[in-house]
Amino acid sequence: MYSKDAIEEVRSRTDIVDVVGSYFPLRRSGANFKARCPFHEEKTPSFVVTPSRQTYHCFGCGARGGVFDFVMELERVAFRDALELLADKAGVTLEADTGAGTARRSLRAELYRVHEWVHGYFCRMLDTPEGRGCREYVTGRGINEEMIREFGIGYAPDGFTTLVGRANEAGYPPTLLEKAGLAKPGVKRPGHWSMFRDRLSFSIKDAMGRVVAFGARSLDGSEPKYLNSPETEIFQKGKTLFAIDRLRQHSRDEPVLVMEGYTDVIMSEQVGVKGAVATLGTALTPDHARVLSRYSERTVLVYDGDSAGLQAAERGTMLLLEAGHLDIKVAVLPEGQDPCDFFKERGRDGKEELLDVTIDLLDFLLDRSAARHDLKSLEGRRKAANALIRAAAAISDPLGRDLVLERVAERLRLDLHVLRAATARYQAGERRQPARRTEEPGEDAGAAPAPLDAPHREILEAVVNEPGLATHPGLRDEDGVREPRVRVLMDFALESKDRIAGQSGLFVDLIEESGLRDLVRRGLLPEGHGRDLPAQLEGALSCLKNRRALEEVSRLSREAVESGDARLLEDIQRRFKTLKGGSQASESTQEGSAR
Ligand code: UTP
Ligand code: MN
Repeated sequence: MYSKDAIEEVRSRTDIVDVVGSYFPLRRSGANFKARCPFHEEKTPSFVVTPSRQTYHCFGCGARGGVFDFVMELERVAFRDALELLADKAGVTLEADTGAGTARRSLRAELYRVHEWVHGYFCRMLDTPEGRGCREYVTGRGINEEMIREFGIGYAPDGFTTLVGRANEAGYPPTLLEKAGLAKPGVKRPGHWSMFRDRLSFSIKDAMGRVVAFGARSLDGSEPKYLNSPETEIFQKGKTLFAIDRLRQHSRDEPVLVMEGYTDVIMSEQVGVKGAVATLGTALTPDHARVLSRYSERTVLVYDGDSAGLQAAERGTMLLLEAGHLDIKVAVLPEGQDPCDFFKERGRDGKEELLDVTIDLLDFLLDRSAARHDLKSLEGRRKAANALIRAAAAISDPLGRDLVLERVAERLRLDLHVLRAATARYQAGERRQPARRTEEPGEDAGAAPAPLDAPHREILEAVVNEPGLATHPGLRDEDGVREPRVRVLMDFALESKDRIAGQSGLFVDLIEESGLRDLVRRGLLPEGHGRDLPAQLEGALSCLKNRRALEEVSRLSREAVESGDARLLEDIQRRFKTLKGGSQASESTQEGSAR
C-alpha cells in the first residue's frame, strides 16, 4: 500500500485534462472538455471532462470517476498501476515500502529503464562501423532516415556478450537484462548471453510511448526471421500493438489499419498513410480488439493476399465483431504482396487504391463462404448462411445485427425471418456454453460491493458531490449512519474535505480500496445535476433516525410481549403506530427524490 501522502502528491500534480488529452484529443466546451467516449461506441461526443471537479462523466454509458479511474479503465490496470503510471508522468517518486507490491513495482520501473537504455544503445549502434551492414540493409529496403528515427530502428550488435557487457558498464546488470528477456544465463559457461545478436531491431512501445520490448530481424537469412522479446511484467503480446503510441492524436473518424508486420507499418507511415498498427507475430486477440476500439470506430484489416493472410483476416473479423466493432473492412492485397511492398510501389496514392480494394466485412465473409461452398445449391447456401449467422450472433448491438442479417438474406436469397430465428437460436446456445472470456488481470473479480439502501446512497451522494457537507453534525450521530462503509467514507470526507475542496474527483481518487471506490464512483453526479444536496442530506438523515426509532420501539415491544406487561405493551404499541406512519412517509419521499 502506498501512503495517502504519496497518492495525494501524485493527485495534486496531475490534471485530468492533461491525462485524458494525452490519450485522445479533447475539445473545449465552456468550462468543460468534450470527446467521444472511449468506453463505448458513439457518434456524437457525450464524454465530458470537468477540470474544476477533476472528474469525467459520460452521459451515454454512465462511465464516471476521477483521473485514477480513467487510467484504470482505459489501460485496464489496477489502482496501483494507475498510480505508478501517473506518478511517473508527474515526476513523483513513490516512496519505497515493504512487501511484494513494492518489489513488483520497482521491477516494472527497472524494466522500463533498461528498455529505454537498450533502445538508445541499439539506435546508436546503427551509426557505428559495426552497424554499417544493418544500415545498408535498412536503406536497401527503402526505409528513410525519418522513419529510422521515428520508429527507433537500431542494430543489435553481434557477439554473445556485447550487449550484456555494455549494459553492465552502464549500470544495468545481467540479471536485469534477463528479467527483461534480453539475455539468458549460460548453461555450459558462467555469465549471461544476449538474445538478439547481429539483428535489425524495432523498438516496441506501449500506448504511452514507453519501450517495452524489441522485435529483431535477422540480416543474413538465418532463422527465425524475427525474434521478439518474450512476455515480461511490462509486455504482453496479446495486448500490445506495434505503433499504438502513434495513435494518440488519431481521429475516431479515420480508420485504424491493422497489419501483420513492422515493415508494413513503417512503409505506410513513410508514404504518408496514417493509422497503421501491427500485431506482434500473433493473431489478433480480444484484448487487441478492445484496445483498438479506444482509437477508432473504423477498422481496416490489411493482410497479405495469401491463404494465411485471408485466414487471419477472417478470424480477425469475427473477433472484432464480438468486441463490438461494426465498421470493419478488409483489404485483400494482390497475391504475394504485403502492405510494405504495396505502399513502396504505389506511394501515398496507395491509400486510395487500398481503400478501393477494401471490402466490407460482410462481403468479405460472404466471399470466403462462397469460395468454400457452392452458392448455387441450396445446401451450399445453407452452409454459407451458418457461417454468417455465427458472425451476426457475435454482434451485440441488435440493430447492427439485424442490418447484417438483412444483407445476408439478400445475398444468399434466404428468408430474413428464418435467419433471425436461427441467429437467436445460435445465441441462446452460445449463452449456455461456459463463459469463454477469462477474467482480466487487474480486474477485481467479484469486487462489486453490495448496493446501499436509498437513504445511505443519498447521504453518500450528497457528501461526494458537495464535500463541504461532511461537517454536518448529523453524520457524527451514532443513531444516524451505522452502515460501516458509509461511516468510513464520512470520516474520510470530514478529514479530507479541505484537501478535496470542490473537486469531487479527488474524493474517489484518494480512496484505494476498490469496493469503497466503486461506491463513491456511483455516487458521482454529473456536473449541473441541479439537485438540492443539503436538503437531500437532511431528508436522508431524518429517514435513518426514524428507522432507528422504529427499530428501537419494536425491540421494546417484543420485550414487553415476552414479559407479559400489558400496560407497557399498549403504550408502546401506540407509540409504534405514530412512528411507523411518520417513518414510512419519510422513506417514500426519499425514494421519490432519488429518482
Ligand atoms: P513477415 O514474414 O510477413 O515479415 O511476418 P515482414 O514484416 O514482411 O518482414 P520483412 O518484410 O520480411 O522484413 C510478419 C510479422 O510476423 C512476425 C513479425 O512480427 C513480422 O513483422 N514474425 C514473422 C515473427 O514474429 N517471427 C517470424 O519468424 C516471422
Ligand atoms: Mn510481410
